[in-house]
Formats: sequence, C-alpha cells, structure tokens
Amino acid sequence: MSTSEIQTADLQGALTQVTRAVGSSGIAPLNVPLSAPGGAPAPAPTGPGFDPASLAAVIAQLANEMLGAPLNQGAAAQAAPLPGAAPSQSPVPHLAAAGAAPSPVPGPSAAAAPVYPGSAPAYSGSVPAYSGSAPAHSGAVPPYSGAALPAPGSAPDHSGATPAFPGDVALPDSTVRAGFVRVPLVGSDPLSLGATDEVLRIPVLDDLAGRDADPYFVPGAPALGIESPVGPPQVEAHEIRAVDPALVRGVSGSAGILDPHAIRRDFPILEERVHNKRLVWLDNAATTQKPRAVIDRLSYFYEHENSNIHRAAHALAARATDAYEAAREATRRFINAPSTREIVFVRGTTEGINLIAQSWGRRNVGPGDEIVITWLEHHANIVPWQQLCSEKGARLRVAPVDDRGQVILEEYEKLLGPRTRIVSITQVSNALGTITPAREMVAMAHRHGARVVVDGAQAVSHMRADVQLLDCDFYVFSGHKVFGPTGIGAVFGKSEVLDAMPPWQGGGNMIADVTFERTIYHPPPARFEAGTGNIADAVGLGAALDYVTRIGIENIGRYEHELLHYATHALATVPGLRLIGTAADKAGVLSFVLDGQRTEDVGGALDREGIAVRSGHHCAQPILRRFGLESTVRASLAPYNTCEDIDALVDALHRIQIGRSR
Ligand code: ALA
Repeated sequence: MSTSEIQTADLQGALTQVTRAVGSSGIAPLNVPLSAPGGAPAPAPTGPGFDPASLAAVIAQLANEMLGAPLNQGAAAQAAPLPGAAPSQSPVPHLAAAGAAPSPVPGPSAAAAPVYPGSAPAYSGSVPAYSGSAPAHSGAVPPYSGAALPAPGSAPDHSGATPAFPGDVALPDSTVRAGFVRVPLVGSDPLSLGATDEVLRIPVLDDLAGRDADPYFVPGAPALGIESPVGPPQVEAHEIRAVDPALVRGVSGSAGILDPHAIRRDFPILEERVHNKRLVWLDNAATTQKPRAVIDRLSYFYEHENSNIHRAAHALAARATDAYEAAREATRRFINAPSTREIVFVRGTTEGINLIAQSWGRRNVGPGDEIVITWLEHHANIVPWQQLCSEKGARLRVAPVDDRGQVILEEYEKLLGPRTRIVSITQVSNALGTITPAREMVAMAHRHGARVVVDGAQAVSHMRADVQLLDCDFYVFSGHKVFGPTGIGAVFGKSEVLDAMPPWQGGGNMIADVTFERTIYHPPPARFEAGTGNIADAVGLGAALDYVTRIGIENIGRYEHELLHYATHALATVPGLRLIGTAADKAGVLSFVLDGQRTEDVGGALDREGIAVRSGHHCAQPILRRFGLESTVRASLAPYNTCEDIDALVDALHRIQIGRSR
C-alpha cells in the first residue's frame, strides 16, 4: 500500500470518527466562549458548537495521530509455561488431617531488613567525566532473556516497529487448557448450582481446544448429573484459557489441583524475612504480592518500550501503544467483555466508581432519585454516591445484612422502585469476605430499570469475573488486588452506556479536536482517559491477568475455599476469638476480634512474628458498626498462602491469648 493509499484510508477513518463524535455520540461538543479583545465577554456560542470549516484540520490531525501511532489490535497474546516450577503435593490437607505437617515452604534466603541497594552510595565527589565513548545504539532491541523466554531460534524480531513482549508466545498445542461449556438445560438444575435459567455454564478443565468436538459431548456433564442437554453445547472459545501444568496438576478431565508451593516460587517477596522471621503475607485484601512475570514485564517495558502512547510516529511510541492496547485486550479477555472499547483504564476501583458517579451519575440522577447500595460496601462505594446525592438532592438507600453478613435479598428488593436510578454493590466484602449474589441482584435491579455497578475489587482474584454472565452495566476492579501493580485498574461499561456518558476529566488523549470555541471528544474508552495514563502499570496488569489465567481462576477459587475452611476451623480453637462474617458463601477473608485485646495490639504482635494482617476498620466502617465494632483483625488469603501460614497465625494467636511470646 502506498503512502497516499494509507492516508486515504486513514482519512476516511478520521472522517468517520469526526462524524460519530459530532453527530451520533449523544455528547454535545463543549462550547467555550472566547474573550473578545479588550476583555469584554464574548457572545454566547450558538448552534451545536461545531465549526464545519475546521473539519479539514480535524481530519488532518486525526490522520497524523493515526499514522503516527497505529493501535495494535493484533492477535491475543498468550503466556508461556513457567520454566522450572515442579508440581508438588496436594496443598490443603483434609480437615481430618489438619495436624499433619505439610511439606516445608522453600527456606528464606535473605537476611533481615535489607536496604534497597540502589540507594546506598554516598556522593564521593569524583563523578567520572563523560568519556564520549558510550556504546552506539544499534537500533535493535536485544532479546529478552528472563522468564518465559521463547525457545532458542524462535525469538521475535525486535528490530521493527512493534515487537511483542517475548513472553507473549503461543502455547504449544499439547498445553492443557480450561474453559467453560454452555449447556442448554432441560428442566431444573439438578445440582442446585444456581442455574435457574435455560443455560448452565459448566467449568471444565480439559483439552477442549485440541478436541475434535462431538457437539453433544459435554466434558464433565455425566459427573454433574446433567443427562439430556437440548441442542449442542457451545464451547466458549474466548474463555478457553491456558493453564500452566507446572502450577496446576491433574487437570486433564478433572479439577486441577493448584500447587501453592510452586506458586510461591513465582513471588520473590515471599522469600523476605521480617523481624528475622519468615514472612507470612496474610494481607492480600489490602494488596496482593507480585509474581516475577509482572516484575519482569515492567522492567522489560522500561528497558525496551517506554514512550508515551497514541501520539508520536516513532518506534517506541508504537511499541508502548501496542503493549498498552494488548493489556486492554488482556483485561477484556479476563472479564469476558465483548469489546476493548468497553474497557477504560483508571487508577483503581476508587477512581472507577468516582468516574461512574461523576459522569453517568451527574447526567442521569436528579432530585428525588434513589441510589441503592448495601451495608457491606467499602467507603469507595459509599462516599462517591453520597457526594452525588448531596449535589443532586437524591437519596442513598442501603440494603441491610443479617447477622452472618449476608445481604437480605427481600429487603434489598423492597428498596428497588421507579426512583432507583443506579445500584452499586460489591461482589465480595473486603471486611467480611461475604460473596454477594451479585448476578441475582443485578437481575432484580434491571427489572426496575436501574443501572448496576459491580465493585469487583475483592472478587477479581478469587472468582470468575464474567461481565456478560453478571449482565452488570459497569464492573470495576484494581490491578493491585489481582497480583498487578498499584495505580492501575479498569472500568468495564456496556458500550451503549459508555457511549452516552460525558467525559469526567478533560485534557489530552481524550479529544479529537480542540478549538477555543469547542472540543470534540474521542469515543470511549479514550474519552475517559484524559492525560498520560499509567502506561507501564497497565502493561503490568495485563501480565498479572495472564498469570492468573495460567493458574486458572477456578483453581484459585477452589484452593482458597479449602484453605478458608481449614483456617476457619483452626481459628475456632483460639480462646476468645470471635469471627466476624460467617456467610455461607465467602471468599478468603477471616475478620476477627480477640477478647481482651485491642486489634492494633494484635496486629503489632503478629507483625513481630513475621505475620502481616490488617487491623483497623478496613475502610468499611458501616459494616463493622453493624456488628458493634470499630475495628477487627483481618487475615486474607491468596493462592500462595499455605496451611503453614495458617498454622503460624493460629499458633501466634494462641500465644497472644496466653500472654507470652516466643
Ligand atoms: N481496600 C483495601 C482493604 O480492604 C485497602 O484493605
């Protein structure tokens, strides 16, 4: 294709974007009156504020941007198996064998309290003069030599404009995969799995991709007691995920058994020692630790790809843009969103909910309208709605919970009505661990015409976050809760909802064209990504989600469920311990108080044992006050936690309660 052909094609695309932005987005262009000479106010603008005379300039600008930094919408990246991680024993002993000693965690290697080595040397006064002999840059990026290195001879070509991260290599055909199969059900749900509609999605762990599918063969169906599906089951190809057999074993035709010891080896920080003790990280609800795959991906970005994105014509801009947009695709895939246009990168869950409240909320909520939340919510899912209510004269209504910390659905339903504009609910409570019946709550709200936000901050690392299955209008989560970096997260919004939302922040990147009279905005997601975003950490988030995919989120959920069961019974042996939050359906959170002990003292005492938990109100004061408390101690789980971690916690709590330390 010649340059002129490219320009013609892109100009056509630019024209389409301009037409869409002006004519059919539902967003009125911003009119900004100019000051007249001499400081007199300019006359108010008239009409839609779009000056047809500037169309050519708009198109030229867009064409320049598009030619300069083409987006990568290429093939989905997949991760390679980790080298060197060996399967090991079954991770959680059955409760009957709770006293049996599991195999030891690999020993710590570091001494106490290391200092970041890069920060040490004092200025010597003898900085060497620039020699002028810095090695010439060859123009070719050296092959990445870290984890997930492709096989020798298959390294990607990095000399061109848009090399892929070498970790993003296709899986070999023999790799075990996991996925879902949709099975049209006959009659009722035989296993009470909660599927009361006509389609049940059966998680399967099998080599679906390699199977020459018999349309009526349903992997796992006989074991689940489903005998007569109507019509062919549909393998949801986009949900077929690669599972790394080094981390999860026994996955062919049966449930995978996650190996926490293999997973621990991927997290270098778990080798740290604190207070000369082995680090026991049980503060995962506050933030998760980061696997080598994420750390390496961030380093690789800064060493080989760093640039601003969507802007310049140079090679690094193309690399960085490709990496960023590949992360958007990884995020879309992870939460099963229909399109990357529905994925907006934000700082995290808090910023995501603020975006929705300020953009969708300001446009759609008015005096006398109602917003419904639950008592379980984190402050981030309370305060932005309170602020909106106060600005608009709307009313915040709160669905109560029972004494186990479960939403009382009948009371929730009573709150829904014609004034309900939006419902915003957590999928998992950060303070109690309650898993809410989010899918059912979404459907109930939709019956009343309300939009629904699901706060997935505490759910996304424990269970499948499938926005199409939930049918929520918005889904928000933070990268750092799912083994990714801090300062990055995502908002999913259904395209018809996002398309009708105004921007909430103005600036670069989100505009198609700016004059002093008006601004034309990009369509979503760029409309909501003003300024230079957290590019590297978005790329790191993509690596984190791919890492989770290699373990299999269902495998994580199943393992953590067993570990939670083990921990719940073990904590019950501690004298004077009261567990707060005993919902039948819980994710990996153990919130508790100890008779006669202040929670901050318990947290401090555990820290001296090398055990990190959170003590405090967990940014969820209303739900703790529902239980008559201002604070609890909270231990929260991740797939790298083991029974030894729980035993260390329980042992320390026993010693705290009898007033002696080691
Ligand atoms: N939201 C985080 C927590 O629950 C910080 O600890």
